[in-house]
Amino acid sequence: MEKKIKPSNGIDFNKCLHIIYGSRTGNSKSAAQLAEKYANHLGLDTCLLDMKTMNVSIMANIKNLLLVVSTHGEGDPPAVAQKFYNYLHHTHKASLNKLKFSVLALGDSSYKDYCKTGKDFEKQLKELGAQSIFPLVECDVDYEKNAKEWIEMAVNTFSNLLRPTKKAQDKLFSFNFHSNSTDEDTFQVIVKDKYLLTHPDSDKKTFHISLSSENLKLSYLPGDSIGIPCHNSRFLVDKLLKQLKYDGTYSIGEKGRIRLLKQVLIEDLELTLITPLVIKKYAELIKNDKLEQLISNQTELEQYCERHDILDLVTDFPSQLNHEQFLSILRPLKPRLYSVASSCLKYPNEVHLTLRLMKYSLHKRQYIGVSSSFLSDRIDSGESMPIYLEENISFRLPENKDTPIIMIGNGTGIAPYRAFLQERDHCQAKGDNWLIFGERSFKSNYLYKEEILDFKERGILTRLDTAFSQDQKDKIYVQDKIIEYGHDIYDWLINRKAVIYLCGSKRTMAKGVRESLLGIFCKEGQLSIQEANDLINELKMKKQWQEDVY
Ligand SMILES: Cc1cc2nc3c(=O)[nH]c(=O)nc-3n(C[C@H](O)[C@H](O)[C@H](O)COP(=O)(O)OP(=O)(O)OC[C@H]3O[C@@H](n4cnc5c(N)ncnc54)[C@H](O)[C@@H]3O)c2cc1C
Ligand SMILES: Cc1cc2nc3c(=O)[nH]c(=O)nc-3n(C[C@H](O)[C@H](O)[C@H](O)COP(=O)(O)O)c2cc1C
Repeated sequence: MEKKIKPSNGIDFNKCLHIIYGSRTGNSKSAAQLAEKYANHLGLDTCLLDMKTMNVSIMANIKNLLLVVSTHGEGDPPAVAQKFYNYLHHTHKASLNKLKFSVLALGDSSYKDYCKTGKDFEKQLKELGAQSIFPLVECDVDYEKNAKEWIEMAVNTFSNLLRPTKKAQDKLFSFNFHSNSTDEDTFQVIVKDKYLLTHPDSDKKTFHISLSSENLKLSYLPGDSIGIPCHNSRFLVDKLLKQLKYDGTYSIGEKGRIRLLKQVLIEDLELTLITPLVIKKYAELIKNDKLEQLISNQTELEQYCERHDILDLVTDFPSQLNHEQFLSILRPLKPRLYSVASSCLKYPNEVHLTLRLMKYSLHKRQYIGVSSSFLSDRIDSGESMPIYLEENISFRLPENKDTPIIMIGNGTGIAPYRAFLQERDHCQAKGDNWLIFGERSFKSNYLYKEEILDFKERGILTRLDTAFSQDQKDKIYVQDKIIEYGHDIYDWLINRKAVIYLCGSKRTMAKGVRESLLGIFCKEGQLSIQEANDLINELKMKKQWQEDVY
């Protein structure tokens, strides 16, 4: 017979359902809390644990587990879950063959590594011998529906297995999530100032935007981001309605909450960002051979998503869907994030942003980013708008003000570094600051040139290196500069224990910079690729390597 483990706090691990969550913005926490409520409703004993604070060694004793976790960065665990993730993936070696579990994986299907952390956990738990008793469920940004289904089914499965000792409650359980909605945290700011940072002739337009508020909520740290709720352009919605032959004045919803179709498309649903999941849902409804062919090839499907929007989808693969069917494939319109580009210490009651307007021509039409066009074209100085703060504890200045830092970025990746430099200047931090910044051309795209040169002149910036790709025959990018200064970078990192930061474009910069740094570690440290990769992981663990790429 199996031995009962009863620690001093009275938990009977054989009977208790443990619910462990890892969450950055609160969605996984809400789902885990609801799972606990439902399990208690059924009479189960539960123990809710946060990956951030839990004692990881308890895993050896847990027998029944619901694990709820989101994915962040580029397929990474949320920073608060990193310790638990590493423990389970690298430290815990003993078999978990007494453990029964199920995973709820939260994510966003517009990311390539959709729900990766949840999938990693499921795989690793299985490898350690644990038994999945209910299959992993993926949740997109509108996570509530899938999460509710998973909670009901997974908790019921455990309830049948554990046969609760307490009596289940008679009244019907209502699956209502505790609101962690951004609505509560959203507050109004005034657009104080907005101006172009790039040359007026440059086809790449980047703006400086300062927002002001007397609201006490406007207290942030460099590294944080601002979330901006946005609306689709009427122009795009009109074109979509025309293509679909829908009447925009058609009423949607129930009595008391009736809205026009056009209003719903403008305010609620994602039209410019398209994901493989959306296309698959559409394909299921329209049964089109060409579309089936596209979804059968994952690479082509991802490429289609990168270069097309909903209007393209319904134009390339026409259908006769009714309004309800069409709306059912769309995802909710999510706010966009922008790194804070200022220090609260230097600008109390203000927050600054560095915004690149997404506007480009392709397939004989023009594409305009929903949020960046709202900020650059549709809102003026003096007007008010809602924002919320998004904390990012994994992109932070070192607590020790003497620690040197290396800031690597391209384009709007300069934003958090402006905030870092303002903060370090204000605090009279003694640590050296090195900026390696890349853009297209010195003349047109040197963002915050005067300020940066002033930081350099005043010695706040100890070292400044730039890579303007189009200013010479052979293109030069930050990753090339990094190779050139490899010896110094290695010295700063390894001997002087500097913190290295990467911010900016995921597609163009981050990949190249990581490869360059790997090469430097191999060369300067005389390490094999495996050892250099281990070093990078070690630096990440020690928070000496931090990334915020998008
Ligand atoms: C943590 C974080 C911090 C960020 N900080 C900043 C910041 O400081 N400044 C900033 O400007 N942005 C920042 N961003 C990006 C920002 O959140 C938005 O993603 C960006 O402004 C685009 O949003 P949009 O609504 O204008 O475009 P969307 O309406 O979302 O359209 C973008 C779509 O255009 C496609 N696309 C983009 N370029 C091309 C192209 N050349 N050809 C074809 N298709 C293309 C993309 O694949 C995507 O599908 C940050 C993002 C994150 C996650
Ligand atoms: C900066 C950032 C990066 C993200 N990266 C990914 C990703 O790589 N893969 C994914 O599936 N979801 C990604 N997401 C989406 C989150 O996982 C999703 O919003 C989730 O609901 C958040 O849950 P949480 O509040 O519990 O952290 C990302 C979100 C943000 C803000």
